[in-house]
Amino acid sequence: MELITSDALPAGNRLPSTRALANHLGVARMTVVEAYDWLSDQGYLVSRRGSGTVIQDVKLPLDSDRKLQRPPKLGSGNSSENKGDLKVDFRPGLPDLALFPRQQWTSTLKRIGRSLPSQALAYSDPLGSIRLRSAIAAYLRRTRGLQTDPCNVVITAGTAQAVDLLLRVRPQCRELIIEAPGPDVLKKLPSTYGVSLREIPIDSHGLRSDLLPENDGFVRCAYVIPSHQFPLGYAMSIERRLALLSWAIRTNSFILEDDYDSEFAFAGRPAVPLAKLDRSDRVIYTGTFSKTLAPSLRLGFMIAPSHLLEKISTFKWWIDHGGVTHLQDALAQWIEDGTFERHVQRMRRVYKRRYELLASELVNALGDRVRIVGDRVGMHVAVIVRTKCQSELIIARCCAKDVGVYLINGNVFGMARDERAFVLGFGNLHNKEIAYGIRTFAESVMAT
Ligand SMILES: Cc1ncc(COP(=O)(O)O)c(C=O)c1O
Repeated sequence: MELITSDALPAGNRLPSTRALANHLGVARMTVVEAYDWLSDQGYLVSRRGSGTVIQDVKLPLDSDRKLQRPPKLGSGNSSENKGDLKVDFRPGLPDLALFPRQQWTSTLKRIGRSLPSQALAYSDPLGSIRLRSAIAAYLRRTRGLQTDPCNVVITAGTAQAVDLLLRVRPQCRELIIEAPGPDVLKKLPSTYGVSLREIPIDSHGLRSDLLPENDGFVRCAYVIPSHQFPLGYAMSIERRLALLSWAIRTNSFILEDDYDSEFAFAGRPAVPLAKLDRSDRVIYTGTFSKTLAPSLRLGFMIAPSHLLEKISTFKWWIDHGGVTHLQDALAQWIEDGTFERHVQRMRRVYKRRYELLASELVNALGDRVRIVGDRVGMHVAVIVRTKCQSELIIARCCAKDVGVYLINGNVFGMARDERAFVLGFGNLHNKEIAYGIRTFAESVMAT
């Protein structure tokens, strides 16, 4: 068939008789007869009495401007960061995967699976399990002071899907504003929707609201991480929060608030969410269970304004039909019975100890050559080191010793010419790994 559609066997040519081809291939004649019959039924061949079996014209149309591209090789990345076999990897964003309470999760899944009514196996609500939506609304009321109606909670496959959904339901949005430096992963998505990207610098008070574009008729979305900016780790000041809200109202724009790791504030409570200050449905609040539990669960949520729910529901119907109810109800069970919050409290203690170890190792090894910036929250720190060495060389030296460290791309405010900025994730690293990793990092920074 492929020989015919690719024109290797041109239309009009006659095929050999079934007997001749069977002899040539050393197969039963019946096999060739069946193959010819199938190709004739599909329209690739036509048999005419007296003139044998002739190839039909079924060449595939080709677009000379577009050639089929080979898929990229599995695991191919674009930097040494993907070395994969690192002894110590300071890649940010991973929680401690070994401390995920697997046994409890498995038994909750089993219990939920057994008690699930048959009806729950049908297509479900595209906005997600109402049990989980209610549990999240109650959790946010308790922990973040957000008065959220379960109807406005949409279950997502993580923050990544929340961003994607927003760009779909707000096609009038012409520009996505992100903080600089910010999460690099976000930079590629907007252009796939024809949305442009604008980076606005941050300082220690958060996004420089004085640099936001003023009213020019364009609708914009500002993606911000006000409670613990990634990667620099600052909380946005109340003045900047109010300025950002006023800007959104003035320019008919909206704000996506990413509250991805506020559960892990080591000193006191995290700042009040922007969504709590919003009186005009401008803020869409998102959260994820990728950091509190595990990224592979692909569970997160967004609090969507009522006027967007119908559109979100339509997209969710096509994308994933609301996701896997079984998983969502298991998580709802954990939030309802306190298992989730106990896990978060335990992990907060674990990450706090790791943060303190990492900070003291850094200071012991680098003294006044290192500054740790940002608030004491989460599973990563941003560090600025004073050195003559270029960042790429530091990364390469660490990599040669099987240690992965990550550069903060873009301008970091207040950084001197002889300073370099890195982000170090420690959520999935044990004490010995942190100690070895920081020693290696410090040696790489100090080597001339
Ligand atoms: C800033 C930020 N927010 C949220 C997330 C979580 O994304 P998701 O919920 O899609 O796993 C990430 C992932 O690393 C991130 O960098």
